[in-house]
Amino acid sequence: MTSTDRRYFDEMYASSHDPWNFEASAYERRKYSLTVASLPREKYRNAFEPGCSIGVLTELLAPRCERLLATDINDVALEQATKRLERFHGVVVEHRAIPESWPVEEFDLVVLSELAYYFDIKTLQILVNQIVQSTSPAAHVLSVHWRGETNYPLTGDRVHALIDGCQRLHHLVHHREEMFVLDLWERRS
Ligand SMILES: C[S@@+](CC[C@H](N)C(=O)[O-])C[C@H]1O[C@@H](n2cnc3c(N)ncnc32)[C@H](O)[C@@H]1O
Repeated sequence: MTSTDRRYFDEMYASSHDPWNFEASAYERRKYSLTVASLPREKYRNAFEPGCSIGVLTELLAPRCERLLATDINDVALEQATKRLERFHGVVVEHRAIPESWPVEEFDLVVLSELAYYFDIKTLQILVNQIVQSTSPAAHVLSVHWRGETNYPLTGDRVHALIDGCQRLHHLVHHREEMFVLDLWERRS
Protein backbone atom coordinates (compact mmCIF):
# COMPACT_ATOMS: atom_id res chain seq x y z
CA MET A 1 0.00 0.00 0.00
CA THR A 2 1.41 3.43 -0.93
CA SER A 3 1.43 6.57 1.24
CA THR A 4 -1.92 8.30 1.71
CA ASP A 5 -2.64 10.81 -1.06
CA ARG A 6 -3.06 14.46 -0.09
CA ARG A 7 -6.55 14.42 -1.63
CA TYR A 8 -7.68 12.28 1.30
CA PHE A 9 -6.82 15.14 3.66
CA ASP A 10 -8.32 17.76 1.33
CA GLU A 11 -11.61 15.85 1.46
CA MET A 12 -11.44 15.53 5.25
CA TYR A 13 -10.98 19.29 5.71
CA ALA A 14 -13.65 20.06 3.09
CA SER A 15 -16.15 18.12 5.23
CA SER A 16 -15.18 19.68 8.59
CA HIS A 17 -12.85 22.37 9.91
CA ASP A 18 -11.72 19.87 12.60
CA PRO A 19 -12.22 16.40 11.08
CA TRP A 20 -10.73 14.48 14.04
CA ASN A 21 -12.40 16.65 16.70
CA PHE A 22 -9.03 17.71 18.15
CA GLU A 23 -10.55 20.79 19.80
CA ALA A 24 -13.29 19.12 21.83
CA SER A 25 -12.38 15.45 22.31
CA ALA A 26 -11.61 14.39 25.91
CA TYR A 27 -9.57 11.50 24.49
CA GLU A 28 -7.36 13.89 22.49
CA ARG A 29 -7.02 16.25 25.45
CA ARG A 30 -5.74 13.47 27.69
CA LYS A 31 -3.43 12.11 24.97
CA TYR A 32 -2.02 15.59 24.33
CA SER A 33 -1.40 16.05 28.09
CA LEU A 34 0.52 12.75 28.22
CA THR A 35 2.43 13.72 25.08
CA VAL A 36 3.64 17.00 26.52
CA ALA A 37 4.29 15.46 29.96
CA SER A 38 6.54 12.83 28.33
CA LEU A 39 9.03 15.41 27.10
CA PRO A 40 12.06 15.04 29.39
CA ARG A 41 13.32 18.63 28.94
CA GLU A 42 11.61 21.75 30.16
CA LYS A 43 12.70 23.71 27.09
CA TYR A 44 13.69 22.85 23.52
CA ARG A 45 15.71 25.20 21.34
CA ASN A 46 14.29 24.30 17.92
CA ALA A 47 11.43 21.82 17.52
CA PHE A 48 9.64 20.44 14.46
CA GLU A 49 6.05 19.20 14.34
CA PRO A 50 5.15 18.01 10.83
CA GLY A 51 1.45 17.32 10.20
CA CYS A 52 0.34 19.92 12.77
CA SER A 53 -3.23 20.11 11.42
CA ILE A 54 -5.19 22.95 13.08
CA GLY A 55 -2.49 23.42 15.74
CA VAL A 56 -4.17 22.09 18.90
CA LEU A 57 -1.15 20.04 20.02
CA THR A 58 1.16 22.77 18.69
CA GLU A 59 -0.42 25.21 21.14
CA LEU A 60 0.57 22.92 24.03
CA LEU A 61 4.08 22.34 22.70
CA ALA A 62 4.75 26.03 22.05
CA PRO A 63 5.49 27.10 25.67
CA ARG A 64 8.14 24.34 25.83
CA CYS A 65 9.97 25.51 22.69
CA GLU A 66 12.02 28.63 21.96
CA ARG A 67 11.26 28.00 18.29
CA LEU A 68 8.76 25.55 16.86
CA LEU A 69 8.23 24.85 13.16
CA ALA A 70 4.71 23.47 12.57
CA THR A 71 3.85 22.31 9.05
CA ASP A 72 1.02 20.65 7.16
CA ILE A 73 -0.02 19.93 3.57
CA ASN A 74 -3.53 21.31 3.92
CA ASP A 75 -4.18 25.06 3.70
CA VAL A 76 -7.56 24.95 5.49
CA ALA A 77 -5.81 23.39 8.48
CA LEU A 78 -2.85 25.80 8.25
CA GLU A 79 -5.11 28.85 8.21
CA GLN A 80 -6.62 27.75 11.54
CA ALA A 81 -3.23 26.81 12.98
CA THR A 82 -1.84 30.24 12.04
CA LYS A 83 -4.70 32.01 13.90
CA ARG A 84 -4.46 29.74 16.95
CA LEU A 85 -0.69 30.21 17.24
CA GLU A 86 -0.26 33.88 16.37
CA ARG A 87 0.41 34.87 19.99
CA PHE A 88 3.47 32.60 20.13
CA HIS A 89 6.31 34.54 18.54
CA GLY A 90 8.56 31.48 18.38
CA VAL A 91 6.10 29.41 16.34
CA VAL A 92 6.45 29.34 12.56
CA VAL A 93 3.56 27.76 10.59
CA GLU A 94 4.38 26.63 7.05
CA HIS A 95 2.92 24.65 4.17
CA ARG A 96 5.33 21.74 3.72
CA ALA A 97 4.88 18.17 2.60
CA ILE A 98 7.19 15.64 4.16
CA PRO A 99 9.35 13.85 3.31
CA GLU A 100 9.77 15.84 0.03
CA SER A 101 10.14 19.27 1.65
CA TRP A 102 11.96 18.32 4.81
CA PRO A 103 13.39 21.54 6.32
CA VAL A 104 17.14 22.11 6.26
CA GLU A 105 17.62 22.90 9.92
CA GLU A 106 18.96 21.32 13.09
CA PHE A 107 16.25 20.31 15.57
CA ASP A 108 16.48 19.15 19.16
CA LEU A 109 12.88 17.86 19.16
CA VAL A 110 10.76 16.21 16.45
CA VAL A 111 7.13 15.30 17.22
CA LEU A 112 5.23 12.82 15.04
CA SER A 113 1.66 12.82 16.32
CA GLU A 114 -0.94 10.81 14.37
CA LEU A 115 1.01 11.24 11.14
CA ALA A 116 3.45 8.42 10.38
CA TYR A 117 0.87 5.67 9.71
CA TYR A 118 -0.18 7.57 6.58
CA PHE A 119 3.17 6.65 5.00
CA ASP A 120 4.29 3.38 3.44
CA ILE A 121 7.31 1.58 4.89
CA LYS A 122 9.77 2.97 2.35
CA THR A 123 8.64 6.55 2.96
CA LEU A 124 8.71 6.07 6.73
CA GLN A 125 12.31 4.86 6.43
CA ILE A 126 13.19 8.00 4.45
CA LEU A 127 11.50 10.02 7.16
CA VAL A 128 13.45 8.33 9.97
CA ASN A 129 16.71 8.99 8.08
CA GLN A 130 15.73 12.63 7.68
CA ILE A 131 15.02 12.87 11.39
CA VAL A 132 18.44 11.41 12.24
CA GLN A 133 20.21 13.71 9.72
CA SER A 134 18.46 16.88 10.93
CA THR A 135 18.70 16.44 14.69
CA SER A 136 21.48 17.35 17.11
CA PRO A 137 23.05 14.71 19.38
CA ALA A 138 20.71 13.99 22.34
CA ALA A 139 17.73 15.44 20.48
CA HIS A 140 14.37 13.87 21.34
CA VAL A 141 12.00 12.20 18.88
CA LEU A 142 8.46 11.71 20.17
CA SER A 143 5.94 9.58 18.32
CA VAL A 144 2.30 9.03 19.34
CA HIS A 145 -0.28 7.10 17.30
CA TRP A 146 -3.74 5.58 17.49
CA ARG A 147 -3.62 1.75 17.72
CA GLY A 148 -7.06 0.93 16.28
CA GLU A 149 -7.94 -0.59 12.94
CA THR A 150 -7.61 1.82 10.00
CA ASN A 151 -7.27 1.67 6.24
CA TYR A 152 -3.94 3.53 6.44
CA PRO A 153 -0.75 1.90 5.08
CA LEU A 154 0.67 1.21 8.57
CA THR A 155 -0.66 0.63 12.06
CA GLY A 156 0.47 2.77 14.97
CA ASP A 157 2.27 -0.20 16.55
CA ARG A 158 4.11 -0.99 13.29
CA VAL A 159 5.22 2.64 12.93
CA HIS A 160 6.73 2.59 16.41
CA ALA A 161 8.44 -0.77 15.84
CA LEU A 162 9.98 0.56 12.61
CA ILE A 163 11.27 3.74 14.26
CA ASP A 164 12.60 1.65 17.13
CA GLY A 165 14.67 -0.34 14.61
CA CYS A 166 16.81 2.73 13.91
CA GLN A 167 20.23 2.18 15.51
CA ARG A 168 20.81 5.93 15.85
CA LEU A 169 17.89 6.30 18.27
CA HIS A 170 18.04 5.25 21.90
CA HIS A 171 14.67 4.35 23.40
CA LEU A 172 13.74 6.33 26.52
CA VAL A 173 9.97 6.28 27.06
CA HIS A 174 7.23 3.76 26.24
CA HIS A 175 3.56 4.15 27.03
CA ARG A 176 0.98 1.86 25.48
CA GLU A 177 -2.70 1.53 26.20
CA GLU A 178 -5.69 0.18 24.34
CA MET A 179 -6.19 3.22 22.12
CA PHE A 180 -2.73 4.66 21.49
CA VAL A 181 1.01 4.13 21.77
CA LEU A 182 3.58 6.78 22.71
CA ASP A 183 7.37 6.40 22.46
CA LEU A 184 10.28 8.76 22.87
CA TRP A 185 13.83 8.25 21.67
CA GLU A 186 17.07 10.16 22.12
CA ARG A 187 19.34 10.65 19.12
CA ARG A 188 22.70 8.98 19.76
CA SER A 189 25.84 11.07 19.13
C1 LIG B 1 -4.54 13.11 11.96
S1 LIG B 1 -3.89 14.71 11.62
C2 LIG B 1 -2.74 14.88 13.03
C3 LIG B 1 -2.69 16.27 13.58
C4 LIG B 1 -1.75 16.55 14.74
N1 LIG B 1 -0.42 16.06 14.54
C5 LIG B 1 -2.32 16.05 16.06
O1 LIG B 1 -1.93 14.99 16.54
O2 LIG B 1 -3.18 16.76 16.58
C6 LIG B 1 -2.73 14.40 10.31
C7 LIG B 1 -2.29 15.67 9.61
O3 LIG B 1 -1.15 15.37 8.81
C8 LIG B 1 -1.22 16.10 7.60
N2 LIG B 1 -0.38 15.41 6.62
C9 LIG B 1 -0.64 14.26 5.98
N3 LIG B 1 0.36 13.91 5.16
C10 LIG B 1 1.31 14.88 5.29
C11 LIG B 1 2.58 15.10 4.70
N4 LIG B 1 3.07 14.26 3.78
N5 LIG B 1 3.28 16.18 5.07
C12 LIG B 1 2.79 17.04 6.01
N6 LIG B 1 1.58 16.90 6.59
C13 LIG B 1 0.85 15.84 6.24
C14 LIG B 1 -2.71 16.12 7.28
O4 LIG B 1 -3.08 17.17 6.41
C15 LIG B 1 -3.34 16.26 8.67
O5 LIG B 1 -3.58 17.60 9.00
